[in-house]
Amino acid sequence: MFYVFLLQFFVISFSLTILVESATNARYAHVSALINDQLFIIGGQPTSFQTKGSNDVFYLDLKKSFNLQDPSLVDITKTSGMPFTISWASSTVVNKDGILIYGGYAWSLNSGNLDNGDNSLYLFNATTKQWTIPTVSGAPPPKRREMKMVSDNNENIFIYGGIQLGANPQWYTDMNILDAQSEFRWELIQMKNSPTYPRADYTATMLPSGVIVYIGGRTRAVRDGSILETELNIKQITLYDTKDATWYPMETTGELIDNRNSHSAVLTPDGKIIIYGGAQGPNLITASPSLAILDTSTSVYTWSVPTISSQFSPPPLILHTADLYGDYMIVAFGQ
Ligand SMILES: *[C@@H]1O[C@H](CO)[C@@H](O)[C@H](O)[C@H]1NC(C)=O
Repeated sequence: MFYVFLLQFFVISFSLTILVESATNARYAHVSALINDQLFIIGGQPTSFQTKGSNDVFYLDLKKSFNLQDPSLVDITKTSGMPFTISWASSTVVNKDGILIYGGYAWSLNSGNLDNGDNSLYLFNATTKQWTIPTVSGAPPPKRREMKMVSDNNENIFIYGGIQLGANPQWYTDMNILDAQSEFRWELIQMKNSPTYPRADYTATMLPSGVIVYIGGRTRAVRDGSILETELNIKQITLYDTKDATWYPMETTGELIDNRNSHSAVLTPDGKIIIYGGAQGPNLITASPSLAILDTSTSVYTWSVPTISSQFSPPPLILHTADLYGDYMIVAFGQ
């Protein structure tokens, strides 16, 4: 299922142009990456069975015009399928044409066994369309899910928080760098002014200044012996400056929107973070409105809610992906 928003940056209105349904490919908790005009979709939980992820790899060629109602997805699972199935992972583009996948649940395609290795990184080469398992040095952080990798485009990949795999999972507050320059090397960062609470299911957006904007997500606290999981206040943005490893809280201004987790975020060239979807609480109550913009070009970031002009409205979604291609935000799959 693909939904495309046409963004008109200087007009406060969004036109939603298409909506595409493709039930056979339905999934959530997958990853996506845009490389050389190809939007790759990898893995995820097929909605038809809940247990062991998927090893699907397919892409949409955005250079070619495609039928909006039935885009020709190029399914390369047979030739470039992963030797494992995966969901709840995170991905980022490395060294121009690589898609690096880390974390989440990965199961061996042959044995069906869950891969619990802390060092599990998988690299897809979008040119050769082949997978490799990179050699990694340094001490890896414990494997985790429901976090976001974010790259500074100098091949430093930042990984913050997330949730341990398995029963009674620990939630994390640490920040790790994966240096992907010549080899893959882990490094744990000593941070200043760190949030003391853990965070998962947030979005992480790297600004050109080297500041990562962490939006929303959930946290967990133990109070009077019972565990309390709540959404973080979306008005309270946490900024992490990669240049000096320091956190800065910011009270945003502008319109009020619901707190949320499992939403998506893309950054426009003029410094606007567009978030979409998300939900609250164990019953996944839809967060409203689905679409909101955080303008980071002002000294105090400002939330606004655009009007969507469209005859097709996409449903509220969680665990989807969003990628920016020119003036289009492409929202793919989800729940
Ligand atoms: C992908 O493969 C091409 C061709 O072999 C190579 O030039 C490129 O460096 C590879 N990319 C990554 C990220 O390893």
